[in-house]
Amino acid sequence: MNKFGTIKRLCSALACCVAVVVICVSVAGCWLFDPDGPPVAQSKYLCDIYEDYFSIGAAVLPSNLGRYDEAELMKHFNSITAENDMKWRFVEPAEGVYSFGAADELVAWAQEHDTAVRGHCLVWYKSLPSWLVGKQMTKQQALNIIDKHVTDVMTHFGDSIYAWDVCNEVLRNTISDVQLAKGDVWRTGDDVSYEANSVDWYALCGVDFIKQAFRSADKVRTELGLDVKLYYNDYNLNSPNKRQAVVQLVEMLRADGIAIDGIGMQSHYRLPDYQANSEAFMQNFEDSVKTFTEMGLDVQITELDIQVYESSDSPQAFDALPREIELQQAQMFADIFAVCRKYAHTDDAEHGTVTNVTTWGVADDHTYATTSIHREFPLIFASDYSEKRAYYEIISFE
Ligand code: GLA
Repeated sequence: MNKFGTIKRLCSALACCVAVVVICVSVAGCWLFDPDGPPVAQSKYLCDIYEDYFSIGAAVLPSNLGRYDEAELMKHFNSITAENDMKWRFVEPAEGVYSFGAADELVAWAQEHDTAVRGHCLVWYKSLPSWLVGKQMTKQQALNIIDKHVTDVMTHFGDSIYAWDVCNEVLRNTISDVQLAKGDVWRTGDDVSYEANSVDWYALCGVDFIKQAFRSADKVRTELGLDVKLYYNDYNLNSPNKRQAVVQLVEMLRADGIAIDGIGMQSHYRLPDYQANSEAFMQNFEDSVKTFTEMGLDVQITELDIQVYESSDSPQAFDALPREIELQQAQMFADIFAVCRKYAHTDDAEHGTVTNVTTWGVADDHTYATTSIHREFPLIFASDYSEKRAYYEIISFE
């Protein structure tokens, strides 16, 4: 090779080096010399992404926590709800005898993982212990039993719970216009007795059982100085009549000076109901969130899931979730989260806000919606713990 050729090769090698150095420096520059600090890759965990809006929760069983933890799924959630373990049947199996083992396990896990705990639920017509079902009680005895249960359970958990569902589902399954007009909105009779382990609190006490539960809860909170919010929790709350019945329930409590802080909209939904008219569906959902928050109540979406079958009796149609249905379900999840974000902040001190969205389960491998009739797919994570399309839609916002 002649002298000229050698110089030419040296020059091009040098140019290559300079180019590499320039690229490295400029790439490194992004990371090292950005005046606003190093860029942070967008977090992939739901609760981090939603940090400025509301907490993200999931209902769990102690026996499922291990495997969800191992798959790092629990990192998406900064709130948990006991799927069953705080229900009356589990915590007070004999009168005045408490069994908090499983619930305490969840609370301990939450404390270890810097996760908040929703309390679910103090007074409900079902999931009751056998000593209470069919017990002969006068109205006053029933009220005393409620008072003692609420007091003991809230005292036990103290500050480890940030919100309690004080009453769950005290309104009828559905409320017709005539029922609403007559004030015949309370769950009683057939709406109770269809369920085995149930007590018709309304037949025993009228609305006083609701007042008692909230009064007792507020008393414990005040006496122990607890930082806990008191909620009414129910389903179908985007139906206008049930929404109106909740408004009346809150007005009734307030008229008696009884404290209530928020409404839990369970939000067990079905995709076909949204598909039938998604605009109307979302309008009803938003109207409820708006109505409650304008009353100065916080709203939590406490049991969100979206079943893809039309009814619990629908025969199984597929083994895996078809992509097309997954996309539509994702859109519905996204619409719900968008409304929740819209009401997560307020400029009006008199208004409440959306403070939590909880899914009723973690992943599709465990859901109450799967029965012997069909396998359901109602959650944000798939049975193999991968993110479903819903996850990506939920985190895609400005
Ligand atoms: C209701 C209850 C929950 C749970 C779900 C699903 O919504 O509030 O505790 O039992 O039903 O079964």
